[in-house]
Amino acid sequence: MTTIGTPLSPSATKVMLLGSGELGKEVLIALQRLGVETIAVDRYENAPGQQVAHHARTITMSDPAQLKALIEQERPHLVVPEIEAIATPMLEELEAAGVVRVIPTARAARLTMDREGIRRLAAETLGLPTSPYVFCDSLAELQAAIDERIGYPCIVKPVMSSSGKGQSKISGPADVKTAWDHAMAGGRVSHGRVIVEGFIDFDYEITQLTVRAVGADGQVQTHFCEPIGHVQVSGDYVESWQPHPMHPEALDQSRRIAQAVTDNLGGQGLFGVELFVKGSAVWFSEVSPRPHDTGMVTLCTQWQNEFELHARAILGLPVNTALKSPGASAVIYGGLNATGIAFDDVEKALQVPQTDLRLFGKPESFDKRRMGVALAFDADVELARERAKLAASLVKPRLA
Ligand SMILES: Nc1ncnc2c1ncn2[C@@H]1O[C@H](COP(=O)(O)OP(=O)(O)OP(=O)(O)O)[C@@H](O)[C@H]1O
Ligand SMILES: [Mg+2]
Repeated sequence: MTTIGTPLSPSATKVMLLGSGELGKEVLIALQRLGVETIAVDRYENAPGQQVAHHARTITMSDPAQLKALIEQERPHLVVPEIEAIATPMLEELEAAGVVRVIPTARAARLTMDREGIRRLAAETLGLPTSPYVFCDSLAELQAAIDERIGYPCIVKPVMSSSGKGQSKISGPADVKTAWDHAMAGGRVSHGRVIVEGFIDFDYEITQLTVRAVGADGQVQTHFCEPIGHVQVSGDYVESWQPHPMHPEALDQSRRIAQAVTDNLGGQGLFGVELFVKGSAVWFSEVSPRPHDTGMVTLCTQWQNEFELHARAILGLPVNTALKSPGASAVIYGGLNATGIAFDDVEKALQVPQTDLRLFGKPESFDKRRMGVALAFDADVELARERAKLAASLVKPRLA
C-alpha cells in the first residue's frame, strides 16, 4: 500500500534528492505534484531543484559525516541520488541500519558511482557484451594495456567523471600521454585511475530507459520506454530523440541487456541504460540508476516523462511508459562564463511550431554548461529534431 501524507505536517511523506540539477528539479516537481514533502540537496546554493523544493540544503555530499548528519537530521523516508559523487558507502551503512531507504538501492548507487564497479558487474559478473577494457593507475600501465590488450583506436576516461570530462580518443601512440594528462586534469577525484576502452565503431547509440515498478500483484515488474537516440559531442549529450528506429533483434538484445543489469541492481525506480548498436550487435556501455540527461526528450514525448516515472516507481505507484508522440530535445549551452545571465528571444524560440522550453535557472553560466533544453514533438522525428535544434539556437544567453 502506498500512503502519501500532507507536506509540512507530521504525516508528510518526505523525499530527499541528493543532487538538485536540472534532472533533480524535474523529479522534485513530479514529487511535489503528488503531495510529497521534498528536500533538495546540492553542493551550491540556489541549485535548480532547490528553487522548487520545500527545503533546500547545501552540503558536500561526498563527505560521509556531512551526509550522515543531514539524513539523521531530516529523516526522509527515501533518499534519491541524482548525481554520482556521493559518499555511497555511508548510504549503504545508513540503509543497512534501517535509517533510510536509498533509491534504487544503496548498492546500486555505489556500483554506479564510478566506472569500475558497474563495468566489472556487467562484463565479469553478468557476462554482458561491452567494449574491451583495462583499468590503469599510471601512464606506463596505460601504454602497456594499449600495446598488449586494447590496441588503437581507444578511449581513455577517468574512473570518476561524467559528461565526458577528462575523456579522450587515442588514435595512435602520439596521443597517449596527452590523453593521460587530460584524464588526470578532468577526473572528479584525483586518484589517478582510468579505464581504457577499445573504440566501438557503432552505427548509433541509444538510451534504453527501464523502469522497475511495483505491479498490482505487489511484485516488481520491468517496463521499457521506446529507445532514445542521441548525439554526443566530446562525451556530452547535445541532442536526443525518441523513438530511435531499431532492428527488432537489436531492440530485443538491448532490452535483454537492460533487464539483466537492472534486475541485478534491484530496487524501484527508473534507470538509463546506455547501449552501442551496430547492425544487430549491442554493447552495454553504462547505466544511470536514475533519470538520464538524454531522457529529457520524454518531457514532450511520453504520457509520463522519465521524471514522473521515477517519482511514481519509487513511491510504489503504477507506471505507464507509452509514447505520446515522437519528439526531440536540443541542449542550450551558456556560451559565456558569468553569474545571473539573461536569455533573450525566448518568444522567438517558442514561435517554432510544436516546441517547448526548459530554462534550468542555474545561478552561474559556463561556456559549455547546460543551461536549458528545447523540446519539439512531431509525428516525423526528423522534423522534430530540426525544430528542437532551431528553437535551441534562437535562445540567446547574454550578460545581464
Ligand atoms: N568504447 C567506446 N567506443 C566508442 N565510443 C565511445 C566509447 N565509450 C564512450 N564513447 C562515446 O562517448 C560518450 C560518453 O561516454 P560515457 O557515457 O562513457 O561517458 P560519461 O562521461 O559517463 O558521459 P555521460 O555522463 O554524459 O553519460 C558515449 O555516449 C559515446 O558516444
Ligand atoms: Mg554516458
